[in-house]
Amino acid sequence: MTTSSRGHFSSRLGFVLAAAGAAVGLGNIWGFPTQAAQHGGGAFLLVYLVLVFALAYPVLVAELLIGRHGQANSVRSLMAIGQPKLAVVTGLAGIFTVCLILSFYAIVAGWLLSYLLGAGFRLTGLMAAAQWSEQFGFTRNVLFMLIFMVMTVWVVSRGVSQGLENWSKRLMPMLFVLLIALIGFMLTQEGASQGLARYLTPDLTALDDPALLLSATGQAFFSLGLGVGAMAVYGSYLKGDANLPKLALSVTLVDTSVAFLAGLLILPALYTAQNMGLNIHGQDGSLVSSSTLVFKLLPALFSQLGALGPWVALAFFILMAIAAITSSINILELPVSFVAEETKLSRRQSAWLIGILVSLLAVLILWQFNLLFALVIKVSTQYLQPFVGLLLCIFTGWLWHRQRCLAALAEGSQSLANSKTLRFWQWYVKWVCPLLIIGLLVQSFR
Ligand code: ALA
Repeated sequence: MTTSSRGHFSSRLGFVLAAAGAAVGLGNIWGFPTQAAQHGGGAFLLVYLVLVFALAYPVLVAELLIGRHGQANSVRSLMAIGQPKLAVVTGLAGIFTVCLILSFYAIVAGWLLSYLLGAGFRLTGLMAAAQWSEQFGFTRNVLFMLIFMVMTVWVVSRGVSQGLENWSKRLMPMLFVLLIALIGFMLTQEGASQGLARYLTPDLTALDDPALLLSATGQAFFSLGLGVGAMAVYGSYLKGDANLPKLALSVTLVDTSVAFLAGLLILPALYTAQNMGLNIHGQDGSLVSSSTLVFKLLPALFSQLGALGPWVALAFFILMAIAAITSSINILELPVSFVAEETKLSRRQSAWLIGILVSLLAVLILWQFNLLFALVIKVSTQYLQPFVGLLLCIFTGWLWHRQRCLAALAEGSQSLANSKTLRFWQWYVKWVCPLLIIGLLVQSFR
């Protein structure tokens, strides 16, 4: 495929919804609220907000810029900046990382689908089928992981505007409606106010804990889907007249709002569960982990809500599945754009090829679950993602000729041309972002 025949987002709203859909995912809905509750509630929220705008936002602008400038897959876009060998290594490292991320993401999303179907079975009185669907087992795990992968491949194979943009435009408003409806319902439950208080009251003593900074930085990075080139690929489907700082700001605001709203759902739900006699703390006194929360505690809570329970469960798992698929299509797009542009395979063939390879990897992880599942998550999100992100900052801040980089950013944002803000951004991505990421990496190796 030549770069001139590449697809483009048809509108700015389409881009913002697709990129926000990519950012809004399982990280927001189950990662953010539990981390906030564990690290001082409102204190975590404050630090997170500072980090999102001080670290994640400038890196998002850089990633979108790399893609928009290169108008090609991530490897070729990096090569357009310079240092071709390093560009290939960095681009391929990003592609390898997202394949690992997609493999565990598809497993978790498969569980969400199986619980979604379970809620449907309960509503129709098929209790045995519901139990099978909600029981952890190799066959069930593989089956639902494959269903989720097929859905992801199908959307991606339809192309940029018909697949990525169209489906994000349909699903993102649904996600907002479901989220707000579920928050409204949950806040009427007994015990919910305790959860709200835990979430929104800043416990300033938590600020002394270095783990807070580390987890807020990692969360901000994962949530905005940074560091692997996936956002660069979405940037490559933007035309030259797009104002990148503004678009990136919209995406950051949507992503952060959804994370914040998810806290208004999950924390009240946790304390409602506690109020109903369920245990919300692990043996060490900390809050239950995210997967125990979503796959054990919340289903137990839903089952105690009487006739409404299966409906609330259905709405919740649809919400989670939407969040997962708008992210997984972005993750898959990164390797697919590379294969489709660098080989003779069509987009459709490339999407199926990568989909099959990632599914095989996911089957391997499911087969050796205890050994591989947590390991793959840790290696890909805690080490590889920030490391490749560091390389992307080095490309933008150090390897890209400063004036050419600034000129590329000013394209589409002429009011910013030669402004101090642009120069400050370049300095920031050159010095501050890499140092923050190195700090994060050093901490995570401890
Ligand atoms: N950014 C996506 C998430 O938060 C991957 O789940």
